[in-house]
Amino acid sequence: MAKRAKPAAKRSAGSSKFPKVGAGELLTLLDFVRYAVSRFVEAKLVFAHGTTDPVAEAAFLVCEALHLHPDQFEAFATARVTSAEGKKILDLIARRVTTRKPTAYLVNKIYMRGLPFYVDERTIVPRSFIGELLEQHFGGDGDDEAGSLISDPGVVESVLDLCTGSGCLAILASRNFPNAEIDAVDISKDALEVAARNVRDYALEDRLTLYRGDLFKPLDGKRYDLIISNPPYVDAQGMAGLPRECRAEPKLAFDGGADGIDIVRRILDEAEAHLTPQGGLLCEIGRCRPQLEAAYPQLPLLWLDTADSEGEVFWIAAADL
Ligand SMILES: C[S@@+](CC[C@H](N)C(=O)[O-])C[C@H]1O[C@@H](n2cnc3c(N)ncnc32)[C@H](O)[C@@H]1O
Repeated sequence: MAKRAKPAAKRSAGSSKFPKVGAGELLTLLDFVRYAVSRFVEAKLVFAHGTTDPVAEAAFLVCEALHLHPDQFEAFATARVTSAEGKKILDLIARRVTTRKPTAYLVNKIYMRGLPFYVDERTIVPRSFIGELLEQHFGGDGDDEAGSLISDPGVVESVLDLCTGSGCLAILASRNFPNAEIDAVDISKDALEVAARNVRDYALEDRLTLYRGDLFKPLDGKRYDLIISNPPYVDAQGMAGLPRECRAEPKLAFDGGADGIDIVRRILDEAEAHLTPQGGLLCEIGRCRPQLEAAYPQLPLLWLDTADSEGEVFWIAAADL
């Protein structure tokens, strides 16, 4: 007997996992965002990759599918999408739910401080608080009680971004410190390939140099006016409980050893030898503040908060190390 041809695989948006969307039921960008939010909430997704709630993630996904900057969402919220665009959006929504990969990986893009960066699974999706802090505390006057930590960004001649991943913080730093040469280090060849693409996209090849290696090792003892770092800082318990969204990201980007501060300890111990006398270190450490303060009770760490974080980033001047 002749074998019967298998039916073509159903499009996931129309599969039993998803309520069927009839023609003409979803018309506007807002309709698609509302539909995505319902699916995301139903599937109990985690939002930690450039967005922190289902509405922002859905708006980001819809905008990317339509080649719009997220800031343009409001202007077009009530505009209709074509059927081809609608199909593309429904496919992305289905992939977000079934793969649980962050939208940033599905669309190969993330915005930091309003700027686009290319990302894929060779590097972590950027979401560091350091971008915001560079704007708040390194602009000459500062806008809270910590004030400005560097009086004139124009005099900063050299910046080092340790553990650069996609290169996003190094690239943001190049804008905050217009006269600085920037070096950026990562141990991962894969991550550096993504960083190199971003450096090219921002035409920074002449001012931003990427190094592959273990923290300060590839830098030949060079000293910097500013070191920034968002290193791996997840402790063993956190590694065991990473949400599925984070398991698509390189483990190397998270793993901070048993108590989370293996890499941070090395950065703190070695930073003085790589800073100029007026320089300083800005370092993100997630929820490791208690163990860090217990390990370095003598250090006057200044904790800097952001809109979405408290006590997750410290500053220390070279003179205090
Ligand atoms: C949390 S990710 C941060 C990436 C990027 N700075 C950001 O904010 O998106 C940490 C990065 O540190 C890198 N890394 C891990 N161990 C390292 C080491 N010993 N030396 C240099 N880089 C390291 C990882 O490959 C990863 O890209």
